[in-house]
Formats: sequence, C-alpha cells, structure tokens
Amino acid sequence: MSIKLLAEGSTKWERFIKHWGISFLIGEDVLFDTFGDAGVFWRNLKWMKVDADKIRHIIISHDHWDHLAGLWLFLEKKKDVTVYVCPGFSRETKERIAGFGVRLVEVPGPLEIKKGVFSTGQIRGIYAGKDIYEQAIVVKTFRGAAIITGCAHPGLSTIVDEVKKYFGETVFLIAGGFHLKGATQEVIEKIVYTLKLVGVQKVAPLHCSGALAQDIFKRAWGGQGYIRLTAGKVLRLDSEEEKGADNKCGAKGTPQGAEVL
Ligand SMILES: [Fe+2]
Ligand SMILES: [Fe+2]
Repeated sequence: MSIKLLAEGSTKWERFIKHWGISFLIGEDVLFDTFGDAGVFWRNLKWMKVDADKIRHIIISHDHWDHLAGLWLFLEKKKDVTVYVCPGFSRETKERIAGFGVRLVEVPGPLEIKKGVFSTGQIRGIYAGKDIYEQAIVVKTFRGAAIITGCAHPGLSTIVDEVKKYFGETVFLIAGGFHLKGATQEVIEKIVYTLKLVGVQKVAPLHCSGALAQDIFKRAWGGQGYIRLTAGKVLRLDSEEEKGADNKCGAKGTPQGAEVL
C-alpha cells in the first residue's frame, strides 16, 4: 500500500500565504483530506500524475478549511465518489458536500473503507474552546497499524488509544498533523514517552506539528524512525492484504522516490 503526500503546509510563511493544510493519496483510490488551497491541490494532482478518475473514496479528517478547500473543486469535476465525514461536522459542510450529488457517509465509529484501510470514526477533541470531531486513517500492515492524521485535534495519545482499543494491535507508524504547534517541550516529551511506550516505530510529523515537536521527535526516533515527508514523497507499506503477493519491501513496482518501510 502506498501513501503519497499530495500537499502540505507547515511553516509560518506557508500559513501566512494560505499554502496550508494536508492531503494524502492512499493507494490509488483513497484521498485523505484535500489541502487548504484548491489550486495547489489540483496542480499537485496533475504534477504527480495522479489519475483523479481512479479516486473513489474521499475521507475528510475534520471540518476545517485547510483540509477541505480542494474538495469543492474536486467535486465540481468528479461526482462518482463517496465522501466520508464525521457526524459532528457542521450542517453547512455536510449540506454543501451533499449538494454536489455525491454519496455522503457519516462515520460515527471504525469503518473499513476498502480492504485493509479504515477510518477510526469520529473522535472528539477540543479546539478554541469548542468540541471538534476528527477521524484518522488506519492502514493495517504486517508490522501493526499505520495511523495517518489530519490535525490530530483529539490528541495523538487519544487517537492511539482508540486505535488500540478497536484494532488491538501494535501501532507501527504515525504520520500527519500532530497539532503540537505552540506546545511546550514538556507536553511534547510526554507524548513521545506515550508513543514509545506503545511501541511506535516510525513517525512523520507534518503540517500543524510545529518545529519544536519535529525536532524532539527527530531526536527521539533518530535516522531510522523519523521520516521527513515532503509533497510528492511516497511511503510504501506492506499492508496485510498484500501478504503473500509479490510485493515485498523493495520489490519492483515500488513507486519512484518511495520510502520503503
Ligand atoms: Fe490543519
Ligand atoms: Fe484543524
């Protein structure tokens, strides 16, 4: 299973110019979040030669503009998709999506989107003093669960707890927005401790993770475990449904520029 970073914004400048948000392509047919700039999102799809006609499932992590902007443009062009949202998204967002005539699925709890790829279902977090609901992606691999997050507003520890509760297996990798921008060293180190305790072997902090957290995670996981993803880069996971197929690590067919895990 390949996980390609389609677009990401993580620096102060990128936030200022609204080159902000995150978007992943999982396999060829699952889109997770759609970045905060529709133009950049669409340009990157073209640049990376992503076949938009193959995309069948779009999962939106949470109801924030920097994860939704590309969706509106995408749905203007392609209707043959299912969009997965949390029940806790605003009525306005849900109605806007449904208005495109696409299938809208609300995901209250864990749901298999396609073989080996799941949504956690909505998990409650707090943002700016209000409830926010967010879903993350879980890909089942030989080595345990790989978790992909949008912003991780509910907190990484909570998300990992939920995944372990439902999937009951080791969490092998976490990639995406970790929502630690502005967090103190103490808070970040506590999270590192928790993740180490549950056996997380690979981390790829992006987007709203913050430079301090990226630094601390880099030191904690080192060269083998810390992954710096940039737009266009691919993580290649050997997922469970590929077991037994001619698809071992490093096998031919690994996308160019891929990081084989
Ligand atoms: Fe975000
Ligand atoms: Fe957010």
